[in-house]
Amino acid sequence: MDISDALSSWDGEAAVVRHDAQTGSWFAVALHSTRLGPAAGGTRAMVYSTPGEAVADATKLAGAMTLKMAVAGLPMGGGKSVIALPAPRAEIEDSTWRRILELHAQNLEKLHGEYWTGPDVGTNSDDMDVLRNTTEYAFGRSAKAGGPGSSAEATALGVFEAMKAAAEEAGLGRLSGRRVLVQGLGEVGARVAALAHHAGADLMAADIDPGRSAAAQAIGAQLVHPDEVTRTPCDVLVPCATGGLIDAATAATIPCHAIAGAANNLLRGGQPTANVLLDRGIVLAPDFVANAGGALHLIGREVLGWTADEVHSRTTGIGDTLRDIFREARDRRISPEQAARGLADRRLA
Ligand code: NAI
Ligand code: PHE
Repeated sequence: MDISDALSSWDGEAAVVRHDAQTGSWFAVALHSTRLGPAAGGTRAMVYSTPGEAVADATKLAGAMTLKMAVAGLPMGGGKSVIALPAPRAEIEDSTWRRILELHAQNLEKLHGEYWTGPDVGTNSDDMDVLRNTTEYAFGRSAKAGGPGSSAEATALGVFEAMKAAAEEAGLGRLSGRRVLVQGLGEVGARVAALAHHAGADLMAADIDPGRSAAAQAIGAQLVHPDEVTRTPCDVLVPCATGGLIDAATAATIPCHAIAGAANNLLRGGQPTANVLLDRGIVLAPDFVANAGGALHLIGREVLGWTADEVHSRTTGIGDTLRDIFREARDRRISPEQAARGLADRRLA
């Protein structure tokens, strides 16, 4: 995929793309929709095979943010930034990373508040502190810098509520004693794994990072090879890595009863893939509903002036939002994905 393919197949408002020869990084900031407010979405920093793949990821992720904001009832639009790194984040020198963040802060300044960022894969609250030295358009500074801190805790809480709602809808009842498989044990996934463990789930976990796998094993998780995630029988699959895990072929064989996770853009192939899951009786909590806790935290605290308690109660409300979506989907014999997109479309209209 090249950059022109990524943009010609996209229905968003604008994208800004920049290359930095000194660090070998590409930057893509995608504004999908400002209909409900300024576009907002995290900054993802990772390695991509081509600049076009990075732009395509930014544009698709920005579209998901539009849906997320609309369903969550937040007064923001959808955007996303991607930084295509020259090497994995862990291998990048501090001085190079500082330059990358400085350039990204300049990108944000040039957009004059049409787009606000926050943490995502490869970035955290400390990085938001650095961005805020140059620009005000970054949510999620650390508590030590006077901000509300990482979005990951709220995201994990919302995902946990989504897991419970999806398990109920699939006829599994409570999570206690159920086989829960968490893929990706990063900022969000590790917290979700801990919540599932405390709820008495029979925990399984997979990560490509051995250190993160070991931490899950320490709380009693049975490790699954990362390549085996979609072939391992479980009750609730919880994707918390980078998305795109389930295409139509995987949907046709995946041995689980419910799916609810944090990974943005979990489905490849959109609605037809959701329909394969529907036909097999697998309950899928749409990602842009299940993972809205981080957006509720960042925008609630930094734009709407909510207290931590308000964020907590709105985030636990994700469970009831999903129960309504599941009910509508059941009544209309459509997938929860389609019902949730319909809800977003009505709000956007
Ligand atoms: P993270 O970068 O902290 O964690 C991702 C984890 O996935 C890492 O431990 C990584 O090693 C692992 N991973 C990557 N590829 C894998 C594979 N093929 N198999 C198994 N593990 C793999 O990212 P974070 O913040 O936890 O986000 C996870 C997902 O949730 C992302 O898709 C992100 O966009 C989404 N999300 C995050 C939110 C947040 O508040 N951080 C909010 C909403 C969505
Ligand atoms: N990156 C997270 C998400 O996908 C958190 C986030 C929300 C960041 C809103 C910025 C703005 O939801």
